[in-house]
Amino acid sequence: MIQSEGGRGGPGPAGAERPSPHPRPAATAHPSPRLRPAGGPAAPGNDRPQPVPASAADPVRPAAGHAPPSAGRPASFQEMWRDLRPLGRNADSGGYRRYAWTGADTDCRAWFEEQAAARGLAYEVDRNGNQWAWLGDPTAGDAVVTGSHLDSVPDGGAFDGPLGVVSSFAALDVLRARGATFAKPLALVNFGDEEGARFGLACVGSRLTAGQLTAEQAHRLTDGDGITLPRAMEAAGHDPDAIGADPERLSRIGAFVELHVEQGRALDLSGDRVGIASAIWPHGRWRFDFRGEANHAGTTRLVDRRDPMLSYAETVLAARREAELAGAVATFGKISVEPNGVNAIPSLVRGWLDSRAEDQAALDTVVGGIERAARAYATAHGIDLDVVRESFTPVVEFDHALRDELARILGKDTDLTVPVLGTGAGHDAGILSGHIPTAMLFVRNPTGVSHSPAEFAAEDDCVAGVHALADVLEGLACT
Ligand code: GLV
Ligand code: MN
Ligand code: MN
Repeated sequence: MIQSEGGRGGPGPAGAERPSPHPRPAATAHPSPRLRPAGGPAAPGNDRPQPVPASAADPVRPAAGHAPPSAGRPASFQEMWRDLRPLGRNADSGGYRRYAWTGADTDCRAWFEEQAAARGLAYEVDRNGNQWAWLGDPTAGDAVVTGSHLDSVPDGGAFDGPLGVVSSFAALDVLRARGATFAKPLALVNFGDEEGARFGLACVGSRLTAGQLTAEQAHRLTDGDGITLPRAMEAAGHDPDAIGADPERLSRIGAFVELHVEQGRALDLSGDRVGIASAIWPHGRWRFDFRGEANHAGTTRLVDRRDPMLSYAETVLAARREAELAGAVATFGKISVEPNGVNAIPSLVRGWLDSRAEDQAALDTVVGGIERAARAYATAHGIDLDVVRESFTPVVEFDHALRDELARILGKDTDLTVPVLGTGAGHDAGILSGHIPTAMLFVRNPTGVSHSPAEFAAEDDCVAGVHALADVLEGLACT
C-alpha cells in the first residue's frame, strides 16, 4: 500500500482579479554547468484557432487576431496551447490519452524540452523521470519551483496538468517582460505520471522523489498489458535503475507553487477568476476482487450460479449510499471482468474504488461501510472477496505561511480577498507538501467538469492565472 496523494471546493469570499505590472531591472540567468541546455527551439504549430501576437510588454494577453509564428522569441501562451493541443488527443472522443511513458507522453515531454530551450533555461530529467527547466543555479538552494504535469486520465481534458505547465513558462515570460531580477533560482517542472492512468498509482514521479514510493514498489507496478514500469521507462529512454527518493533535490527547494484548473465550480459561484488552495481531502484507491465460477450463460440455472457480477453491482450501489450518508464521494470507475465473454458468467470481477472525504474519520466510515456491504453480498452469492488498499493519501493542509503569503501578494493591489478553497483532487503539490512549503493556485472552471473532454477554462481566466502566478513568483523569487 502506498501512502500519499485530494477535496471539494467551497466558495470562498469574493476574490481578487489580477494583474499589475511591477517594473524591475533586467533578469539574469545562471545556467548550472551540471545541466545541459535544452534541445531545439519550440516548433511552430500547425493550426491556429485563436492566435495572439505576443507583445514585448505582455506576452500573455488574451487572443486578439492572427499572429505570425513564434520565430525568434518564446512561444506565447496561446502558441504553447496550440502546439500542445494535438498531442495525444483522440480524434473520436476529443479527449487526451497521454499515459506515462507512451508515445503521446514522449511528445509532450519533447514539447517541454523545446519550451525550456526557447527560453535559454538549463534542462534536466531527474532520476525519476521528472523534467526540470532552471533559471539560475539549481545548487544554490532555496529555489522557487512551479509546474504541474502533462499526462492525462483516459480521455482527459486539455487543462488538468497542462494549464499549470504552460502557465509556468508564460509566467516566466511575463516576469522577463517586466524586467524582474531573480534573487533565487527558479525551476519549472513537469512531474511524470501524475494521473496514474497506466500503472494504477497516481503521482508516481513526485512520490518517488519524496520517498513515498520505494524503487522496489515502483518496479512492481504493471500496466494492463503486463508491462512493468521499469520496462516502460526503458522503452521511453529513461534508466529505471536510478529511480528512488531524492532528498537532496527536495532540500534545494524553498517553495513549490502548482497552478491548476479548478475541478469544481467554487470560483464560478463566487465570481472569481483565481483562488488559492487550502487543503486536499484524504483519499485512496481500493481494489475489490470478486471471484465466482465461470459457466455457460445459456444453460446454467440462476440458482446454480456463483456470479460475482451480482455482488459487484450491489457493492457499487452500497458505495453510493455510504458516500451520501457521510457527505463524501465514492466511485467505482474502472472494472475488469474475466473471461469477459457476453455468453459467459464471469469468474472474476475486479473493481477499483476511489473514495475521498473531508476528514479521515469520514473516509474510514465510508470505505469500512462499503467493504462490510461487499462481504455480506459476496457471502450471499457464494463469492470469494479480497479487498486491497492500493494507495492512500492522508489529508493535506497546505503550508499556512506560504498560503498567507500568496493571499497577500495577490491581494495587495486590491481591497478584495482571494478565495481559499479545498479540493477533492490529488496533486503533486499534495505529495510534496509533507517535505517542502507548498501552495496551489486554482483557475476558474465554469462548468466544474474535469477528467473529461468537456473540461474547460476561458482564455481570459487562464491569462489571469498566468499573471497571478507571475505575481506570486515575483513575490517569492525576485528582489
Ligand atoms: C488526480 O487528478 C486525482 O485526483 O485522482
Ligand atoms: Mn487529474
Ligand atoms: Mn492534475
